[in-house]
Amino acid sequence: MPLTADKMSDSALRMANISLTFADGTQALENLNLNIQSGEFVSIVGPSGCGKSTLLRLASGLLAQTQGLCDVDRTSLGYVFQDPTLLPWRTVRRNVELNAELAGMDKPSRQKAADTAIDLVNLTGYEDKYPKQLSGGMKMRCSLARALVLQPNLFLFDEPFAALDEITREHLNDELLHLFQNQHFASLFITHSIQEAVFLSTRVLVMSARPGRIIAEHAVDFPYPRHPDIRYQSDFAEICGKISADLKVAHS
Ligand SMILES: Nc1ncnc2c1ncn2[C@@H]1O[C@H](COP(=O)(O)OP(=O)(O)OP(=O)(O)O)[C@@H](O)[C@H]1O
Ligand SMILES: [Mg+2]
Repeated sequence: MPLTADKMSDSALRMANISLTFADGTQALENLNLNIQSGEFVSIVGPSGCGKSTLLRLASGLLAQTQGLCDVDRTSLGYVFQDPTLLPWRTVRRNVELNAELAGMDKPSRQKAADTAIDLVNLTGYEDKYPKQLSGGMKMRCSLARALVLQPNLFLFDEPFAALDEITREHLNDELLHLFQNQHFASLFITHSIQEAVFLSTRVLVMSARPGRIIAEHAVDFPYPRHPDIRYQSDFAEICGKISADLKVAHS
């Protein structure tokens, strides 16, 4: 069924029949279709090297597709990488201000926006610390705050919590869901953790081995707010099992 004008205006990201081949001939993506509506949290799992980071770089405009249509509003985009990529010579506040500074926001406004973002990620009290004085989880919170400062409509996450221990990761997952509910952004989240994908998402997509395309889709119907303990429910385990089975197919 074609999208109505109303529905299209709710679209945060639209990719149709995307293929992407690098200059050396490596085909990373083939015939990939992906739609994300405003307010959706979509996660992607897939084999290593299947093209997940390439897909995010394409969505952000860092790469261009070889074929197909990619429609993203890049005026309001947040991008969080696996590595927090903080500037070591800047304090937490000055790191968080960075994107606002690059966007040309005046000093009082960006300081106010930075303080709000720091508060949202629970880093209040650490504004004047330097990255080397922070734990891994705090560095990721700082990186998240830096992206939040411009209040993006669409967030791209490339395995942001992969390097953290399980407890810290679950804690940050809880906090991220809290932000998602309060800030109303759409998300495209890449992870290797099926549990993380299911806990966070409204939909989980599975990508094939390279060249990557979407081979399965699972709606996750648990209502928000999601209690941390849903991770131990049998219906949570059931959906994780289905995604795991699809991933095994993707690897084969
Ligand atoms: N600039 C490039 N030139 C040529 N090939 C590239 C380039 N960047 C990535 N690739 C190749 O494209 C494929 C997809 O890479 P990508 O980084 O998107 O994988 P991924 O799914 O994110 O993997 P991982 O889960 O390990 O992070 C890989 O085979 C990779 O070697
Ligand atoms: Mg990657």
